[in-house]
Amino acid sequence: QSDTEGPDSTEGGSVAVTTTTKGLSAEAERRRTFAVISHPDAGKSTLTEALALHAKKISEAGAVHGKAGRKSTVSDWMEMEKARGISVSSTALQFNYHSSETPDEQINVINLVDTPGHSDFSEDTYRVLTAVDAAVMLIDAAKGLEPQTLKLFQVCRHRGIPVITVINKWDRPGQTPLELLDEISERIGLTPTPLYWPVGIAGDFRGLLRRGEDGEAREYVRFTRTAGGAKIAPEEVMDADAALAKEGSEWETAAEESELLSATGQDHDQEMFLAGQTSPVIFASAMLNFGVRQILDTLVELAPPPRGREDLSGKPREVTDPFSAVVFKVQAGMDTAHRDRLAFMRIVSGVFERGMVVTHAQTGKPFTTKYAQTVFGRERSTVESAFPGDVVGLVNATALAPGHTLYTEKKVEFPPIPSFAPEHFSILRAESAGKYKQFRRAVDQLDSEGVVQILRNDIRGDASPVMAAVGPMQFEVVAARMKAEFNVEAKMEPLGYALARRTDAASEVELNRQRGVEVFTRSDGVLLALVSDKWRLQYIQKELPDLTLEPLVAAA
Ligand code: G4P
Repeated sequence: QSDTEGPDSTEGGSVAVTTTTKGLSAEAERRRTFAVISHPDAGKSTLTEALALHAKKISEAGAVHGKAGRKSTVSDWMEMEKARGISVSSTALQFNYHSSETPDEQINVINLVDTPGHSDFSEDTYRVLTAVDAAVMLIDAAKGLEPQTLKLFQVCRHRGIPVITVINKWDRPGQTPLELLDEISERIGLTPTPLYWPVGIAGDFRGLLRRGEDGEAREYVRFTRTAGGAKIAPEEVMDADAALAKEGSEWETAAEESELLSATGQDHDQEMFLAGQTSPVIFASAMLNFGVRQILDTLVELAPPPRGREDLSGKPREVTDPFSAVVFKVQAGMDTAHRDRLAFMRIVSGVFERGMVVTHAQTGKPFTTKYAQTVFGRERSTVESAFPGDVVGLVNATALAPGHTLYTEKKVEFPPIPSFAPEHFSILRAESAGKYKQFRRAVDQLDSEGVVQILRNDIRGDASPVMAAVGPMQFEVVAARMKAEFNVEAKMEPLGYALARRTDAASEVELNRQRGVEVFTRSDGVLLALVSDKWRLQYIQKELPDLTLEPLVAAA
C-alpha cells in the first residue's frame, strides 16, 4: 500500500500550472457547490437522482442512489453501514449543466456535496456544510419543517450560507402552499420568496406558475408524467391566457395567490437572499421529475459561485490566487480491501493538478497528491485537475484532519472548522489492559481525525477518556475502527449527561461541586462542562450567575 505523503520521486512532481487568472476566475464563476439539507425520507436521494438525470449524467433515474431494487451505489465502506442500509459517508457528485436561461455556450459545473441523511446524525453532517456555498432545504409537503432540517438550517444560518427552499412531494396530498410558507417564516424567521408557484393543490400537481417581479405570472410550465418518473418530465411552456384556458380555476387560484405573496412582500430579492434573510421557494416532485430543472436553473442563476476565503489573520485568499484548499472530512476504511483513508478537500483558490506537491499548513510538510479521486457512492474516478468549489478526495492522507489547509506558493492557513455541540457522551475503555498502548494510539488517531471529540479530566484518568459526539453513530465508528485498524476491542459505557457548555478555569472548581455537572478538557484545550439535563443547567445559571456556561455552535 502506497503512501502519498512526502515528495514523490518516481513520477509526477510539481505540475506546471498554466491556467491564467482570467481562466481561473471563469472556472470559479461557472461553478455552484451546494448540499441538500433535509430530514430522512424527505426525498434527498430521489432528488439527487433527478438532478443527475437532468444533467444527463445518467440515463435513467435510479442509477445513482440505491434503495432496495434499484442499482446501489451507496458506499459500503463498513459492515455497519451495510447492515443498516445507510450511507455514513459524504461524497460529492459533479456534473455539467446548461441552464435554459443562459447563452448556449455557457456550461455550468454543479458540485452536489452529499450530507449523510439518516437520523443518527453526526458531526460530519455539519462539517460538510463548511464546504458548500449554498444549500437546498428540502421539505416534505405533508410534514413541513422537521427536526433534522431545523438543525441543519441553524448551521447554514450560523455560517451565512444562502438557502433555497424546495417543497417536495407535491404530487401527494399535503398542506396548502400558504400554510407551508407561514411555517417557514414563523418557525425559522426566514422570509420565503417563491419563484415558482404550484398550479393544482398538493396531490394534483399540474405545473408551475413562474412568478415575475411583483408576482405577475411570467409563464406557465405544465408537466407531463412519465412512467415511474424515470425520465425527464416533458414540459409545455405557455402564457397566462393559454394557462387559464388549460387549467381554469386551478390557474386562477395560483395567479391570485401569487399576487397575494407580492402584497406581503414575498418577492425575490437577491441581496436579501445572499444575506440569508429570504429564501427562494420552488415546489417540486422529485419522484416525478417535476420542478427539477427549475431547481438547477435557480442554482445557476441565484446561488453564489465560489469566492475567496479569509485566512486566520483575516487576509483574503482570492480564487485566482495560487492553489489552496480546506479539508472538511476524513473517511477511513471506505474500501475494505485496502483500508484506505480519504481526506476530502474543497478547493478554495487556484487550480489543482494531480501529482502537484502542496504544503500541509499545520505541519509545514510537503505533500504529494498522486492519488486524487472523486467519490460518489461506489464510483471512484481519478481527478486530473480541479478548480475552486470542487471537492477532491486524497488517498492515504494520514496527516490530514478536518479543518486543515493545503496550499502552494503563497502560505495560507484557514480558520479551523468549529467543533459542534455534542449531545451524546460515553466512556471509552480497552477491553483488556494489555492493549493499553494500542488503545492510546487509537484514541489519539481518531481524536485528531475528528471522528469524535475526546474529553479528559484528572479524576477519570487517561485509561478511560470520554467520547463526545453529535450523534451516537460516531461511537460505533470508533468501535469498528479500533477493532479493524488497531486490533483493540473497545468497551463503551454511556455517561448520563445530555449537554455541554463551554466554561473556564475560574468556574471549574465551583462547577465540579454541583450535582449533575462534570468539567473536562477537550483535546483542543477548551474546557467543557457536561450537564445532566437542561433543568439542571437552568438551575445553576440562576443560582450561580457568575459561572461561565456558554452554548457551543449548533447547540440544540
Ligand atoms: P431520503 O433520501 O431523504 O431519505 O428520501 P428518499 O429519496 O429515499 O425518499 C423517501 C421516500 O419518499 C421514498 O419512498 C421515495 O420514493 C419517496 N419520494 C421522494 N420524493 C418523492 C416525491 O416527490 N413524491 C412522492 N410521492 N414520493 C417521493 P419509499 O416508499 O421509502 O421508497 P421507494 O419504495 O419509493 O423507493
